[in-house]
Amino acid sequence: MSRLIIGAMVRAIGAYPSGWRYPGAHRDPRSDAAALRRAAEVAESARLDYLFFGDWLATGHDLEFRDPYLVARIDPLSAISYLAAFTERIGLIATANTSYADPYTVARATASIDLLSGGRVGLSLVTGAEARAAANHGRDFHAANDTRYDRVVEFEHVLRRLWDSFEDDAIVADAATGVFLDPAKLHATDFHGAHLSVAGPLNVARPVQGHPPLVHAGSSPRSRLFAAQSADLALVAVNGFEQAVAIREELRSLAFESGRDDRTLKVIAPVLPIVGETREHAQSIADELSELVQIAEDWPDGPPAAFPANRSLAQLTQLVGVDVSKLSPDRAVTPALVAGFSAAGQELVEIVAERTGRSPSGERPPTLRHLVVAASVNASMVVGTAVEIAAEFEAWGEAGAVDGFNVLSAVQPAQFEAFARGVVPELQRRGVFPTEYEGETLREHLGLDRPENVHVRSRVSRVTS
Ligand SMILES: Cc1cc2nc3c(=O)[nH]c(=O)nc-3n(C[C@H](O)[C@H](O)[C@H](O)COP(=O)(O)O)c2cc1C
Repeated sequence: MSRLIIGAMVRAIGAYPSGWRYPGAHRDPRSDAAALRRAAEVAESARLDYLFFGDWLATGHDLEFRDPYLVARIDPLSAISYLAAFTERIGLIATANTSYADPYTVARATASIDLLSGGRVGLSLVTGAEARAAANHGRDFHAANDTRYDRVVEFEHVLRRLWDSFEDDAIVADAATGVFLDPAKLHATDFHGAHLSVAGPLNVARPVQGHPPLVHAGSSPRSRLFAAQSADLALVAVNGFEQAVAIREELRSLAFESGRDDRTLKVIAPVLPIVGETREHAQSIADELSELVQIAEDWPDGPPAAFPANRSLAQLTQLVGVDVSKLSPDRAVTPALVAGFSAAGQELVEIVAERTGRSPSGERPPTLRHLVVAASVNASMVVGTAVEIAAEFEAWGEAGAVDGFNVLSAVQPAQFEAFARGVVPELQRRGVFPTEYEGETLREHLGLDRPENVHVRSRVSRVTS
């Protein structure tokens, strides 16, 4: 196995719904500047490959309970430009929603930050699932999946053309002769598609990396095809080891069929480790986080509008096949209660036991709240010591399930620091993660070559053919 790629998926107030409530957690987005700087320092001293910032183009009261980190946060391009000034080696990946973004603006910002940071920028292209974004961008409706993917295909093509506007040696800047620019090496974009129309050229020199690495995150068939054809990193949500192996194989064969070297497509899974000094300690953190998640029945007169529909005893009743809707959320889940559960209900009890150490026949049985939370909070959680978590990462890499991980932290800064200072050294000790930055640019960290300018490539092929 080649070494793992590891980046931090930064969510400043924590990536778990109750993470911001945990003692000592960063919880006020108005002081994100300090929290982001601290996360970047910790990540860079652990020599992580990159910091990754997602994006969301709307907010509302509903997000407070589902994904509180989405309620109010620094926009991703601003976050990476800010952090470029405080860091020296780590990659900086920002997300752009191509259904609403303007490619000239995105190409200009990313080329600029790539030059400012010495070649450390990456760009994640998403098509976005948030329908409210439409009304924030002067549109009547959120386009259908196929239309959004038709647009992202054009977007990616245009971005690469814009980044190739200047050949690497187009700017001569010869004070003696007075020649600043070689006009033959500045190229228009001239793109006119169904969704986008861009004249170009871009008014920024070619990025240090030629093209900043592209990431794509999604899960539909169109998403898989786009990642396979056009992305350097495919960010995929996976449900367990076997599914991960199958998705990586599918992506790699789609990449091969599209004519590219499939080894240049890296498949990355999000993971949320809960790191403790002992397994019991890690389980106690996961336990406390579960207990801090609110569920619908916590409001005697009903939850606030747009509360997540699946976070309730009524929904749990559907899953476990026993009517628990009138019971207290903090009622113990005893062996007698579990005896009547469906197979899915029994499985949920096992997941809770693994994560929190609570089992129905033990001294501290789980409560119904634990089950509701495990069923409704969507997180690829791994709970254990640094050694146990590192062993799990290594096993996934070795079996070809992933090329790396985007690490989410439930509680900032404590859980991110526990990962960076505990799990990363253990991965290094096992030889699956480097102890030093070996390259300068994000492309070099990811083991990717610098692409040639399309205009140079076509000139060379004209001369040689
Ligand atoms: C791991 C992962 C991270 C994602 N991050 C974002 C994000 O930051 N912003 C966003 O708008 N969508 C994000 N998405 C959503 C996808 O872009 C996509 O819109 C969603 O999965 C809808 O399905 P599809 O695009 O696969 O058809 C993410 C998806 C995955 C799997």
